[in-house]
Parts: sequence; structure tokens; C-alpha cells
Amino acid sequence: MHQVINPANEEVIATVPSLDGEGTDAAIARAHAALPAWTAVAPGDRANLLRRFSDVVRDHVEELAQLEVINSGHTIGNARWEANNVANVLAYYAGAPERLFGRQIPVPGGIDITFKEPVGVVGIIVPWNFPMPIAGWGFAPALAAGCTVVLKPAELTPLTAIKLGELALEAGIPEGVFTVVPGKGSVVGQRFVDNPLVRKIVFTGSTAVGEQIMAGAAPHMKRVTLELGGKSANVIFADADLEKAAASAPSSVFDNAGQDCCARSRILVQRSAFDTFMEHFEKAVKNFAVGDPNLESTEMGPLISRAHWESVSAFIPDPSIIAFQGTCPTGPGFWFPPTVIAPVESTSPLFHEEIFGPVVAVTVFEDEADAIRLANDSEYGLSGSIWTRDLGKAIRVARGIESGNLSVNSHSSVRYWTPFGGYKKSGIGRELGPDALDAFTETKNVFISTED
Ligand code: TAP
Repeated sequence: MHQVINPANEEVIATVPSLDGEGTDAAIARAHAALPAWTAVAPGDRANLLRRFSDVVRDHVEELAQLEVINSGHTIGNARWEANNVANVLAYYAGAPERLFGRQIPVPGGIDITFKEPVGVVGIIVPWNFPMPIAGWGFAPALAAGCTVVLKPAELTPLTAIKLGELALEAGIPEGVFTVVPGKGSVVGQRFVDNPLVRKIVFTGSTAVGEQIMAGAAPHMKRVTLELGGKSANVIFADADLEKAAASAPSSVFDNAGQDCCARSRILVQRSAFDTFMEHFEKAVKNFAVGDPNLESTEMGPLISRAHWESVSAFIPDPSIIAFQGTCPTGPGFWFPPTVIAPVESTSPLFHEEIFGPVVAVTVFEDEADAIRLANDSEYGLSGSIWTRDLGKAIRVARGIESGNLSVNSHSSVRYWTPFGGYKKSGIGRELGPDALDAFTETKNVFISTED
């Protein structure tokens, strides 16, 4: 059994079973047994079941959101968005089963056709930072493709995943098709990797564990989708709307207390705009509302755990490097104020390492080439933003930065109908968008001779 803690006040809110290896293998066996019948469900019927699942989730948005507030310390506004995101992703992929067609390819002597067949049992391993959306981005397209799913939530944040498992059954998704398996990564997650009945792993989390999973999957030739770390750049040119760029910069890195793989945790500012930008930015950071996640006005809650608070704090052994900070509550809870370090050299660990907390490093650049060079001076390549009024420059820089998700004069990175994923050590594969089903299907080619 595992105690679940509210990070905003350190109170125990639930006790959840932790499955062992045998229990995990049993869940995988049930998912494997459920596969033939689920694959055989007519496309229109599978679509209807996913639509019903979406509707049931939508009916429970408030309950799911409240659970996420107490389990993860997410602000109520974010938590409602996250629960709705699960419903939206399910509704989007409910449109997929009837459209999951192959091709007819011209060949001599017959007909050549391809089929998109489900890859099999899919193991989804979810981190604690966005428990609901990251789960949904895996299970919705997997189920639509005709796969069955075992899903391991993070040990720290299992409550919404367990509820989603119950809602799936309520919606009529057959037993064994979508099973939530709470427990430790080293036990449950490792069984997903080692058990040969799991044919595909979707993992979101640290690059270190992602590397282990890829290595463990290799002997089985298991398919993997990996969404890993990030150290994304928010590039601000002198010709940008500096007030707007500065006003939006705090939420681009401090949202979810910086525990976001897309956090723009490096701000690169053109030298001639540095002082003006920092003046506006300081005001915005000091006004960023950190506190009770239940309040509609709160913009940032606590960090997820004591251990994570210690890991974030260790990046700032010397407070004299802090340029300025926002405020946060004192007392129980894993609170950390929005923190700005400036100027940061590109040789510093603050420039390179994923802190995964509300800490941003500000670095100066000279010109367009320098901005691209600094943005790419990272082992990661997940996200990023570019602020300029020059459209040509925006496009050149967007094409120059090695990153999977960029936005110009905004910080948007995730829409469920557009692809999401990383370059370099930020991962392999893409989630969401029109092509996500490719990650859950094998292409089968069949030639039919038309000779007498
Ligand atoms: P991870 O250890 O990578 O945890 C992510 C998920 O993987 C959890 O469900 C975890 O289970 C599971 N896991 C752990 N070891 C495993 C193994 N050997 N085999 C299979 N599954 C395993 O991340 P963390 O320790 O929670 O966070 C550490 C750092 O990772 C953070 O500070 C941050 O830099 C990064 N991180 C990145 C992301 C994203 S979105 N890219 C998300 C979370 C964390 P348990 O719950 O039992 O640990």
C-alpha cells in the first residue's frame, strides 16, 4: 500500500494499493486475453464506445479536477482544463476507428493493399506532473487503434488515473481493455518492459528512465514512444512587443510550478532589449499569484513532494545568484517561489539542466545566429517560443531551432489535434494530432494476384 499526500498541506489523503510483479503480469494477461474481442469490435461500435467514454469523463470533470487539486497541487483552473483535455482527446480519437484505412498501391499482376493493424497490448507509464492529459494522450489513440492498455500512474499521483479506469468501465469499455495498474516504476513499469505480452511502451518522464526503458525494450524489439525532458528557450528579439513578451513569460515557465517538460526555463533576450524586458518581467513575476490551488485566482501551486523540493532547491546553493523572486506561502506544503536567475552563462548547469521547478535562467544574445546557437546549445529539443515582429525572422529562427514544438509570439505547445514530441534527448515519436495512431499500429502489406 502507498500513502498519497496533498502537496499543498502535506496531509495524507488516500492509501492506494501498490501492485507487485505477479499482480502486474496478471493485469497484462487480462489485457492480452481481451485483445482479440476488442480488435474485432466493428469500427463504428468502437467509435461509439470511445464517444461514450468521453461523455462520461465530461460528466465527471469537476470531480476529476478536485481530485487533481488535492493529489497534485494543480490550480483548479488547470485541473479543469486537464480533465476536459481527456474528454476532448477521447472525442477526437473516437473519430479514428472508421478512418483507420490502409492504401491501395499500383503493382503489376495483381492488387496491393495495406492494413493498419493494432500493435497489441500497450503499456503506458505516466509521470506525476500532468497525470490526466499524459494518460489520455496514450490511451485514447491506443484504444481507437484496437489495442488494449495497461496504464501505470506515477506512485505520487494515482488518484485521477484510478478514477478514469472506473469511468471507462462505466462507459461500457469491456473489462481488460483499459486497466490501471498502480505501483512502483521499478516493479510495475519494469514488468511492462520485461513482459513479452506488452508489445509497445509509451513512457513520459525523465530522460534517464527513458533510456533504461528503450534499452529494456530492445531485446524484445518492443515499440516505444518516449516523451522526456526539456530545457526550452523563450527567445526575445529587441523588435518584439516586449511588454507582451514579459507579461506572458512567467506563466510559460512557472505554470504547474515549472513541473512541465515544455517549460520555457531559459529566457534568451537580445542585448539591446535586456534592461527594458527585465523591468517588465520583474513586475510580472512579483505579481504571479502563488498559493491555495483551490482559489480560481491562483496561478501556481506547490511542488509535488519534499524530495522534489530538495532537488529544485539544490540548484540554488547560493541565493546571491537570484535576480528577483515572487512570493509563496510559508508553513506546511512544498512551496517554492517563482525565481529568476540572471544573467546566466551558457556554461552553467542552470542553463543546461532540467530543474523542473519554478526557476528560470535569463541569458543575453547578440543577433539572430547567436539566438539559434544558444537555443540549440542543449541536449533537449522539446518546445520553445520566439518573440519578434519580423515574420521572416520568426520563420527562419523557428526552422533553425532543433525542437519539436515552437510558437511565435505565444507560448502554445499542446493542442490535441496537432503533433507533440521532441528532438534529441527529449524523446522519440509524436503523440496527439492526426498521425498518432501510426504509433499504435503495424502496417501489413498484402498482394493479391489477378493472374488466371
Ligand atoms: P521518472 O522516474 O522518470 O518517473 C516517471 C514514471 O516512470 C513514473 O510513473 C515512475 O514510477 C516510472 N518509472 C520510474 N522508474 C521506472 C523504471 N525503472 N521502469 C519503468 N518505469 C519507471 O521521473 P521522476 O523521478 O518522477 O522525476 C525526476 C525528473 O524527471 C524530474 O525532476 C524531471 O526533470 C523529469 N520528469 C520529466 C517529465 C516529463 S513530462 N518529461 C515528467 C516527470 C519528471 P514511480 O511513480 O514509481 O516513480
